[in-house]
Amino acid sequence: VDAVLLDTYGRVATDLRVSLTDRCNLRCTYCMPEEGLQWLAKPELLTDDEIVRLIRIAVADLGIREVRFTGGEPLLRPGLVSIVAACAELDPRPRISLTTNGIGLERTASALREAGLDRVNVSLDTLRPDVFQTLTRRKRHHDVIGGLDAARAAGLAPVKVNTVLMRGINDDEAPDLLGWALANGYELRFIEQMPLDAQHGWKRDNMVTAEEILRSLATRFSLTPEPSQDRGSAPAERWLVDGGPARVGVIASVTRPFCRACDRTRLTADGQVRTCLFAREESDLRGGLRSGASDAQVADLWRVAMWGKKAGSGLDDPSFLQPQRPMSAIGG
Ligand code: GTP
Ligand code: 5AD
Ligand code: SF4
Repeated sequence: VDAVLLDTYGRVATDLRVSLTDRCNLRCTYCMPEEGLQWLAKPELLTDDEIVRLIRIAVADLGIREVRFTGGEPLLRPGLVSIVAACAELDPRPRISLTTNGIGLERTASALREAGLDRVNVSLDTLRPDVFQTLTRRKRHHDVIGGLDAARAAGLAPVKVNTVLMRGINDDEAPDLLGWALANGYELRFIEQMPLDAQHGWKRDNMVTAEEILRSLATRFSLTPEPSQDRGSAPAERWLVDGGPARVGVIASVTRPFCRACDRTRLTADGQVRTCLFAREESDLRGGLRSGASDAQVADLWRVAMWGKKAGSGLDDPSFLQPQRPMSAIGG
């Protein structure tokens, strides 16, 4: 019991999500404003060595088996390849994955693969370059497509694509996106928009729901629930497309939350442990690291933090409040 991250609901965290930076080179309208945000200052950020040390403690002493790097945009972190390489040397070796907007992946996919990255999830909300520009406020559609190609070519399998549908902007594209993903061998997942935007503009009534997405897909494809009910702790529910083996996923964090099976713990780029995307508390590990705490002491701080993990996101409570930090600073 000692070597795991346990909470009071009996859940055990085995999946660590590490945010490597709060910065991003896109400005998705559902995430942050045009002008960007007040970024963390360099001294606040964990160094590469501090990150690797924390991951080592998580793997060696706390039972973490899966490490996912996120941002902001993690490819903006200069040390990413060497962090991945150090992570792949750990014993026991964790599975290593990356969630990225794909910009720059064309250049780095093979180096990341060689360093030990196992798989990658790339965000892409539209097939139309003009809609991409409206949604992300940047002309980078082509770079993302190139990044996806490079990821597949580098053997980062399966390549998953994450899509957020926005009403009136790209919500007519679900079947086209699925057709495209099938043709390219990517596993597509639609994500319900969550109240984690910096502008606090999320409205439940405006969100494209899992039900709507499935209805839209059914106009062109026949979907059957994936037979193996072994969803485990995966946030995506999956359907076989036209009898399979191809699949499509829906991550319905709002209308069909999966909190009871949650196996996650999070580390922000400035060294705070978060027990949940929606948590309102954080626990500082950076202070301990920088004042000479031992591995055992850091592990204890992490265990105590996880013991405070709430049952769920609280999204359905009338008193729900968004976390103080937006998604880009938490790590998706
Ligand atoms: P796979 O292991 O590849 O299935 O990864 P994943 O879906 O867990 O990770 P990814 O980074 O691709 O995240 C996809 C979406 O799921 C993003 O919008 C995340 O914010 C969301 N997500 C990831 N973890 C959680 C979680 O613990 N709770 C909620 N509500 N959403 C999450
Ligand atoms: N709600 C749902 N998904 C979001 N993402 C970013 N912000 C939100 C939000 N508020 C998505 C990104 C990316 C994934 C990591 O999370 O588009 O695909
Ligand atoms: Fe960047 Fe992701 Fe936010 Fe888009 S959603 S601005 S890619 S952090």
